[in-house]
Amino acid sequence: MSVGRFITFEGGEGAGKSTQVRRLAERLREARAGRVVLTTREPGGAPGAEEIRGLLINGDASRWDAMSEALLHFAARREHLVRTIWPALAQGQWVVCDRFADSSLAYQGYGQGLGREAIAALYALAVGDFRPDLTLILDLPVEEGLRRAGKREGGLDRYERMDGAFHHRLRRAFLDVAQQEPERCRLIDAAAGEDLVAARVWEAVAGHFGLYP
Ligand code: TMP
Repeated sequence: MSVGRFITFEGGEGAGKSTQVRRLAERLREARAGRVVLTTREPGGAPGAEEIRGLLINGDASRWDAMSEALLHFAARREHLVRTIWPALAQGQWVVCDRFADSSLAYQGYGQGLGREAIAALYALAVGDFRPDLTLILDLPVEEGLRRAGKREGGLDRYERMDGAFHHRLRRAFLDVAQQEPERCRLIDAAAGEDLVAARVWEAVAGHFGLYP
């Protein structure tokens, strides 16, 4: 359906996704002069989805039942797709998104114990056959990611305050996705400096979409 391209970033806390989303978008704009590149995020990226985001990232760690929480993420995702992502792709824009459904598999499926099948069922219902064209998974040891996240302004959000075992399950989930879907996913070592990570991201994107001159 899409005439644009949909690129997602995934990974645990503190992996530097937001910075890399911004840097990739800048690089794509230069490389594809005249092309519109939209950056967006999940949960969020549409008015209703941003409201749902507030319900998800604030408050007590135990605030939601795991299934309720997954449903909220998929409700936000559906709004994001219908109001923002699909219209942009239909106009030929490239969309670079900070997290997408692999985060639901990692956080709710593995982290909160809902399992793969529940997430796959919600995905089929809310998203259908649509998939990212490319997913960049930024991988970082859990302790290093939480240390970096702890230094950010504004303190830790609801997920960052969950225990260490939870964060280890997230990392396992993202590594499993990278292994199971090698066509769609590229695993990038995020322990390196920001410039080196940006270079590896660009190499992966340029190679995947044939953007070399
Ligand atoms: P952020 O830290 O990347 O801004 O994302 C907000 C939090 O939401 C992050 O801790 C991961 C979490 N999350 C889920 O638990 N499930 C999801 O499906 C998504 C997209 C994010």
